[in-house]
Order: sequence, then C-alpha cells, then structure tokens
Amino acid sequence: MCQTTDHKTVRRVRDLLTLSAESQTVTARGWVRTKRDSKHLVFFELNDGSCLSNVQVVFENPTPEAAADLARVQTGASVVVSGTLEPSPARGQKTEIHGTALTVVGEAPADVYPLQKKRHSFEYLREIAHLRPRTNTFGAIARVRNQLSFAIHRFFQERNFLYVHTPIITASDAEGAGEMFRVTTLPPDAPPKSEFGDVDFSGDFFGRPAYLTVSGQLNAEIYACALDRVYTFGPTFRAENSNTTRHLAEFWMIEPEVAFCDIHCNMDLAEDFLRYLLSDLLQNCSEDMEFFNQRIQPGLLDTLRVVVDSAFHRISYTQAIEALTSSGRDFEFPVSWGADLQSEHEKFLTEEVYRGPVIVTDYPREIKAFYMKLNDDGRTVRAMDVLVPRLGEIIGGSEREADLSTLERRIEECGLNRDDYWWYLDLRRFGSVPHAGFGLGFERLVQYATGMQNIRDVIPFPRAVRSAEF
Ligand code: 4AD
Ligand code: MG
Repeated sequence: MCQTTDHKTVRRVRDLLTLSAESQTVTARGWVRTKRDSKHLVFFELNDGSCLSNVQVVFENPTPEAAADLARVQTGASVVVSGTLEPSPARGQKTEIHGTALTVVGEAPADVYPLQKKRHSFEYLREIAHLRPRTNTFGAIARVRNQLSFAIHRFFQERNFLYVHTPIITASDAEGAGEMFRVTTLPPDAPPKSEFGDVDFSGDFFGRPAYLTVSGQLNAEIYACALDRVYTFGPTFRAENSNTTRHLAEFWMIEPEVAFCDIHCNMDLAEDFLRYLLSDLLQNCSEDMEFFNQRIQPGLLDTLRVVVDSAFHRISYTQAIEALTSSGRDFEFPVSWGADLQSEHEKFLTEEVYRGPVIVTDYPREIKAFYMKLNDDGRTVRAMDVLVPRLGEIIGGSEREADLSTLERRIEECGLNRDDYWWYLDLRRFGSVPHAGFGLGFERLVQYATGMQNIRDVIPFPRAVRSAEF
C-alpha cells in the first residue's frame, strides 16, 4: 500500500465530477493547478490527469493545523485530500470537495516552478517536456493518443488481423531511400577499416551494417503471405534532414498488410480505418476534443464529423497534376508530370479543390519505392497516398509487386542490391499472391485529429533534427 493513500479509497477526478453529490466522503489526489484564498475560504483546483477538468476543493474555516498545510499548497504541488463531495454552486461544475483533511505530498515553490502562467507558448513548453504533460493541452494529447492506440488495435482485432511485432533493428532499407540511422558497437573514433579504406563491419555486433528500421512493411509482408492479414504498430526512424512541422526522426507507424488484396481493397481499408478512428475519438474523447475545437483549431469538430460521414475522393496522380496545372495558381515548387507532389500541392488539392480527404493513386514509378506494383502502362505504380487538409500526406501505401522478375528489375533500377532482398524475393518465388498495405503515421493522425500545428507537440518526447532531450 502506498504510504500516503490507500489506493482502494481514492477516487479519480473524472469519477468525482460525475458522481451524485450526496455528502459522501471521498479522497482524491493529484497536482494543484491554481489556488485562491478569501477570508475564511481556501479554494484550489485539483487535476489528476484522468480528464481535462479539475475538481474544485474548498476548505472553509480551516483549523490552524490545516491552514498551515494549505499555506504550502501552491500551483504544481502534489496533494492528497479527503472531504465530502457536495453540489457545487460554481458555474461549469456539478460537484466539489469540501475538504476535511489534507496532506501536501510534494511542494512546488512558486519562485522556481516553471508552470505558473495559465498559457505558455508551445515553443517554451517543448523546452520543459518533463513538465508539459501537466498542462491542459498536453494532458489532452496524451489521452487522445491513448484512445487512438486502443481504437487502432480494436479496429484490426475486430477484423481478424494479427498483430505482428516487427523488428526495430534491421539490415535492410525498407523504403530504399537511404535515410537510416546506423546501429553499431564499433568505436566511433577508430572503426576497423578494410583494405580499401572503408569501414569494415564484419567485426561489428551483427557482423554486417545494421540500422534502425524506417518501416515494418517488408517484415509484415512475410507474415501476410502466411497468415493472410496482419498489422504492425511500432516506432520507426528516419534520418531525413526535414526540419518541418510534420516530420520527426522517430515516429510511430501503423502498417496493415493484406494478402489477396489489390489497391482498391487497400483504399477501402484505409478509408474505413481513418473514419473509424476519428469517429471513436469524437465519441470517447469528447471533452478533450471540445477543448481542441475551442482552443486550438476552431471548426475542428465540424470538419472531422464531415470526414467521418463522407466518402474520400479518389483521383489518379495524373488527374492531380491536371487539377494543379489548370488552377492557374503560382506554386513555389513547379508542377509537372513526373515531379513529386509537395506539401503545398497536397494542401491545395485537399483544401481548395476537393475540400476534404483525397486518395491519390498511380504515381510515376521514378518517385515511388521499389516494392510498388508496376502498372501495365509501364510508367506508373499502384501507389496510394491519402491526403488530408492542413497536413497533406497522412497515409502512404500501395499494392505490392507480386511478380518475381518485375520486382528484380525494379530493385536494380532503384540502385539497390538484389542479394540484400533475397528473402523478400522468395515471397514471390513461393506461393506469391497479390497483396497490399499501407502505413499511417501515428503522429500525423494525432495532428490531424487535434488540429495541433507542430508534430513535435503531439508526441511525448520528440526526436527531430538537432533535438533529442529528455
Ligand atoms: O509514405 P511512407 O514513407 O510509407 C512507408 O513507410 C510504407 N512502408 C508504408 C507501408 O506501405 N506499409 O510513410 C508512411 C506514413 C506517411 O504517410 C506519414 O504519415 C508518416 O508515415 N511519416 C512520417 N511521420 C512523421 N515524421 C516523418 N518523418 C514521417 N515520414 C513518414
Ligand atoms: Mg509517403
């Protein structure tokens, strides 16, 4: 049993706020958000992370002993309080605690505790990531992440997908883009060299070059080609030098992979998945979502409700290029068939042309990964990106190349070494099936769902270019 409280008798703030106040005795604990004194009354707001709201605690005519303890209660202090739950006369809350006993567990001296003001800038809060979960916004984000994670597993489990744990350390580049962090135990100052002067990895921990994974897809494909439908949900790492509001060096990705599935069933799955997650969030995190709607992104709830209720637009890359060129808009990055869509183009398509999520398919083969199925035209691949307003790409996926010789050709075309992918090619050699999948960036989803502007504010401890504290 905890020294300060008996777990069984403590009530969470979320429950206290919905209980009927029949003068029952309750104990609560948490961190003090604000405190006010008047002549015979001391009020403080207590939050324990169970919900956005605080419970108000009132001490009326405290005994000298209680008054001495109350004097030590400041913003940020941790306390355990007991009292009776009573109807609250104050607006916006049903109940409050009339305190009878108080333990100050940990003080937070006002002259040094950094979270004094009601609103700090997100930039400042990033510098104190160890304290920011104590704010309304970051508490709400933590609950949204939790709700979405749970819903992600529920969505797949209800549809008979198996959760596969794909590795974090890998020897292959799943995207073929060369943006990987190396994993090594060789001494950085004097690694062993081969006779040609390059680093000799044969004496390294794995006896070969190894990296942090950029995607679990290739491993998920192995399991989909045996168990039919699987998904992975884990951390992925990208050493791309993108210092933007939508890129992290470490982010979480959800990657389903389905055998006997083409690009159309893949698009249906992606669309059902996103709509399911947003709908679940609106239903089960309504207080937090209302907060984001009021404080972070006005109109957020209406937009998300429309997304939940309507089908996504589906267009080809070629149609997207036509829509962009015929718009007459002056883009920073020029638009031409063959060039990748930039974030400004994705935003224009979703915000101005289609006013909602758009799935873009059949991109030029030169700008997409080696594993995507080549179309009959020989120029495009069966890629599908889901784009959303405010953010651009939220999902990237494709039907996979299931034909052995085409895949071998594509690997070489992309400048990769066929021998490194021998096991991946075996999947096409033995019992090959059409299959497809996609990756949803978890933090992009949280950004989209909450309206938060910077991706560094929707993950507890962001890792990005030149930033990895805490
Ligand atoms: O489009 P990407 O690179 O696709 C893949 O990794 C495939 N292997 C997925 C698959 O088919 N199984 O990444 C997928 C998604 C993007 O759409 C984006 O949401 C997110 O991952 N993402 C990032 N999120 C945060 N920071 C980054 N640096 C990201 N890079 C990709
Ligand atoms: Mg992509």
